[in-house]
Order: sequence, then C-alpha cells, then structure tokens
Amino acid sequence: MNKNIWVIANWKSNKNIQEALEWVSIVGPKIPRAENLKVVVCPTFVALEEVKKAVQVGNFPILVGSQDLSPFETGAHTGDEAASLLKSLVNIAILGHSERRQQGETDEQVAEKVVQANNNQITPLVCVQDKDTPVPANCYLVAYEPVFAIGTGTPDTPQNANEVAVALKAKDVEIQVLYGGSVTSQNAKAFLQQDNISGVLVGKASLDAEEFVRIVDECYALQ
Ligand code: PGA
Repeated sequence: MNKNIWVIANWKSNKNIQEALEWVSIVGPKIPRAENLKVVVCPTFVALEEVKKAVQVGNFPILVGSQDLSPFETGAHTGDEAASLLKSLVNIAILGHSERRQQGETDEQVAEKVVQANNNQITPLVCVQDKDTPVPANCYLVAYEPVFAIGTGTPDTPQNANEVAVALKAKDVEIQVLYGGSVTSQNAKAFLQQDNISGVLVGKASLDAEEFVRIVDECYALQ
C-alpha cells in the first residue's frame, strides 16, 4: 500500500470566521479523494466550529484539527480547551509547536496533552524541533520542524529532514514523520519524495487557498 500523505494547514493566529469560510469554499472542492491522502486544516479555536460545519456541508475530504488542547480534563482551568469538549470538532491536535514551547510549554505538558488527546480519540501530532526532542508515549504522528526554518523562507534540506525522520522512526516503527518549516508548492514534493517523510505541515503558505491547493496537488501527484 502507498504510504499516507499528510498535508496539514496550520493557520496559527490568523483568519477570522469569514476568511476561514472563504478558504474552505475555495479549497474544499479542489481536494482529490484518495484513501491515503490526509488533508487537514487547523484553524483558530474561534473558527473551528464554522469550519467543521462548512467541511461537513460541502462533504469535502478534509479533516479538521486544533493547534493545541488542554493538558487537563474539564473543570476550573480558565482559558483551557479540554479534549473532551473539542472532540466533536477535531480529529487531530497539533501539540508542542515551537511557538508554544518558546512561551514556556514543557515536554511534560506536551506529554500530558497527548494523554488527553488519546483519551478522547483525537490524534496527537507532536512537533519536535530536532531528533532529540522527546516523542511522548502513544504518539505516532510527529512533525519535524526545525526552528530556523519556521516562517523564515529557509527550509531544511529534504535529505537532512529525511535523516531526522529516520532517527525519529527508530524510536518506534509506527511513527509517521512530517516535515514543517517554510514549505511551499515549490519545495513540498522534494520533502515527500524522501522515503521516511509522510507529509508536510504548512504554516504561512497554507493561508493562501490557491497556494495550499497547489501544495496538495504536488503531494498527491507523487502517489
Ligand atoms: P511556516 O510554519 O510554514 O510558516 O514556516 C510552519 C509551522 O510553524 O508549522
């Protein structure tokens, strides 16, 4: 069977509800249907519900993800979004992004979030900054995102990303590794062509609907 191809849009703190729905209306009809192609959009919490509805109404082959979730269960945790409350809206959660780690998020907190995600049937996608970042137990989707490459226009080389992916997969053969950091429609294919890379996590370039469709097309053409 062909390997899974993940193409994940990480909007970060961008797009109001109207902008989010416009993106879905452009991207949704253009995503090809294929069992091993997993296209995911991760909006802000504010836009999650509307994006989810728009994807369902359009019957688009797009999964919806969050960019974080709470390390705690429901209760007195002001500002936190518990996994049990998110699970009707999301299939996946990006956890441990370097932009959050720079704000003080620790490996331990990321591991607690992975537990919450798994307890609520949300697939955790943990971002690691290098091959030595711990991958929490029961996490099988990992994005290698070197800090120097995020939002800089200077991606890592596909060869180096592949080597890091090999090191990460050595921890558990079930792990699928994505690459993230300045991915565009110009370079996505070169990363996907690497044997150990199963997808891309796209920040800035995912905000432009047409560019995101081009990235999906480049990746899909490889299968
Ligand atoms: P970038 O961000 O594509 O804008 O570099 C990627 C990410 O931070 O997930």
